[in-house]
Amino acid sequence: MCGIVGVLGDHEVAPLLVEALKRLEYRGYDSAGIATVNNGRLDRRRAVGKLVNLSDLLVHEPLAGKAGIGHTRWATHGAATVVNAHPHKAGPVAVVHNGIIENFRELREELAAAGYAQESQTDTETVALLVHQAMEGGATPATAARQTLKRLHGAFALCFLFDGEDDLLIAARKGSPLAIGHGDGEMFVGSDAIALASMTDRITYLEEGDWAVITRKGAEIFDEHDRRANRAETRIQIDATRIEKAGYKHFMAKEIAEQPVVLADGLRHYSRSGTLHLPAGVDFTGVDRIVLVACGTASYACHVAKYWFESLAGLPCDIDIASEFRYREPPLSPKQWAVFVSQSGETADTLAALRYAKEKVARVVSVVNVPTSSIARESDLTLPIMAGVEVGVASTKAFTSQLMVLALMALKAGVDRGRLDAAALAGHLAALHALPGLMNHALGQSGEIAKLAEELARAQDILFLGRGLMYPMALEGALKLKEISYIHAEGYASGELKHGPIALIDAQVPVIVLAPRDALFDKTVSNMQEVMARHGKVLLISDAAGVAEAGPGTWATLTMPAVDPIFAPILYAIPAQLLAYHTAIAKGTDVDQPRNLAKSVTVE
Ligand code: F6R
Repeated sequence: MCGIVGVLGDHEVAPLLVEALKRLEYRGYDSAGIATVNNGRLDRRRAVGKLVNLSDLLVHEPLAGKAGIGHTRWATHGAATVVNAHPHKAGPVAVVHNGIIENFRELREELAAAGYAQESQTDTETVALLVHQAMEGGATPATAARQTLKRLHGAFALCFLFDGEDDLLIAARKGSPLAIGHGDGEMFVGSDAIALASMTDRITYLEEGDWAVITRKGAEIFDEHDRRANRAETRIQIDATRIEKAGYKHFMAKEIAEQPVVLADGLRHYSRSGTLHLPAGVDFTGVDRIVLVACGTASYACHVAKYWFESLAGLPCDIDIASEFRYREPPLSPKQWAVFVSQSGETADTLAALRYAKEKVARVVSVVNVPTSSIARESDLTLPIMAGVEVGVASTKAFTSQLMVLALMALKAGVDRGRLDAAALAGHLAALHALPGLMNHALGQSGEIAKLAEELARAQDILFLGRGLMYPMALEGALKLKEISYIHAEGYASGELKHGPIALIDAQVPVIVLAPRDALFDKTVSNMQEVMARHGKVLLISDAAGVAEAGPGTWATLTMPAVDPIFAPILYAIPAQLLAYHTAIAKGTDVDQPRNLAKSVTVE
């Protein structure tokens, strides 16, 4: 999604703005721009495509000035063109914006009727025009911004820069995060702390409805009722925001490889010496039901967790994708928990679903990677997954870390509901603690997977099949593959095959079967035989026992280490991720920033 940066510096800001935007590249974008005030004059440069295009433009048409704002845009209203790129300018004001102004059409018509015509198709230019109109009516920049904010519906983070004002930024937050950075005689604004990490480690997070008048002396923050608000300044760990490829070709490769260490660290944090060390609030006594809600990959983590909560704890568990949950208005009970899972903690649909559940359930719990995120802040209880910054758009280490935390929660539910005694718990924990070592073995298959990927890259359609716990993994494998290789892929429950999808099978369609040698293995093998009988090209991913038992006729096999079947999804995530990664490499796509996708989806 879009990225915002603002700087009131003590030297030229254009290079700082571009550098900060680079740090936000991971969020996904399709155009970029900056504006500065130099000798009182506001000017801007914008370019479509990657940041290098903006940098090139700045070489030929430099922008001087010690005050500026910058933006990476992920198109929502209007195509990725220079005219639609931010900053948007109207009269004396330039603005950068994340989110969506829902009532911009009415506002645009009203402005047009008043003679303020819009040149772009964006909702953002409407904001700039409203401020321009207010300033023409005599308002100061701060008053004009404040009046404008009151008229906007939707979710947004905004940062304004003004002609003639080289010591002023106005920032506002409603629904989309925004942070203010403090320097020595310098001030900064960023859509996340990562953007600011090269400039400062002193951060103040704006809260919902806050807006701020920022000069080099500091920030005056006001709440949604325009009362002065005190917001704490925190020190962020720059290390936690370090975004380097560490010798890997792609962030995704690095993040896949990091999983054994990340998982081992997370497990050590939440469980030691054969017992659980979850936060005190994780107590399922009296909880009679649980609903897990998320989007995309995080929703597949919930899907796996449903099996865990039901089988390990006998706790009825509903799952839903947030964009459906929020509008379906499902009945919720005060004896149930609602759990929201999100890497970024800023996903608009998940946040809205959380707000729907609040006050209706016994406890709103979140499982997030960013502990300062909106979803974490609005939850009664948060369990950080501690995966470290995930830069690759395709979620990998966050997914397995979400699974780890959800597995531990399900074990706790099993204990609290009298389903698991101390010995059973210790056995399950030992199985979880064995996973990092097994994941290392699975990572060792990368070379073999790369060879298979050469062939997969030629396919137009690929199916993933799995049963039981492997069904959500089939969905996840297909999502991962399609999002970075652009090959059409679908995941199915193996048992569903003959209810429709089998019509797709022919010699051209690779079918990837995820099937550890578990209680359901024979049934999955029968489904695999049905595929092979129709000349389907099967890649079986199983353990040595499974591969031996499945017999001949497959196109290829990948042998995973034997694993406790309950926690097999955490291990089988690795081949699914590596297949997607290497297929994308074989196709030459942009692995870390696949087309059309954004890392943190802060719009509906
Ligand atoms: C896929 C992927 C997305 C996210 C989804 C939710 O690889 O990363 O499907 O899982 O957009 O994002 P978060 O977890 O930030 O709420």
